[in-house]
Amino acid sequence: MAILKIARVGHPVLIMKASEVPYPFPADMARLVNDMLETMHDAGGVGLAAPQVHVPLRLFVFRVPADRGGDDPDDPPIEDAVLINPVVVPVGDVVVEGWEGCLSIPDMRAMVPRAHRIRYRGMDLSGAAVDRTVSGFHARVVQHEYDHLDGVLYPMRVRDFRSFGFNDELARAGALRT
Ligand code: NI
Repeated sequence: MAILKIARVGHPVLIMKASEVPYPFPADMARLVNDMLETMHDAGGVGLAAPQVHVPLRLFVFRVPADRGGDDPDDPPIEDAVLINPVVVPVGDVVVEGWEGCLSIPDMRAMVPRAHRIRYRGMDLSGAAVDRTVSGFHARVVQHEYDHLDGVLYPMRVRDFRSFGFNDELARAGALRT
């Protein structure tokens, strides 16, 4: 296991469209996924996409801590998930604003609109099919990570830049209510 270097905004790998992961998976896939999980935990994040560690492939790791999901049974906690070659589609047309940060844009956050409910499909590390329909925070994390695979960073989704700022300034201003 190793902690990987995280690309910061401005690095070209973050605005590229990533490539499909070949199947059968490359021999070093398990190591990459384990290193990404270790890097995510070390950095205190809830998601990390391969392009953020300079690997332009379509996979990400994520987690939904038990205290972040709501009461919604469709917003389940999940530990150390990986999604390979994902497809994400909105379910319904409800869009909600919520706070997001990104390990590639340290110490900042903003309010970002996302589909409240999504269906996501892909593969896990064993190559088994994943197919879930989720809502809320779980849906938000997956949409944020999925965007990374297409070179999209959350500020590109922000509608009202008055919400954008450094975490400590926003906290000082009382803007963070969650
Ligand atoms: Ni991010």
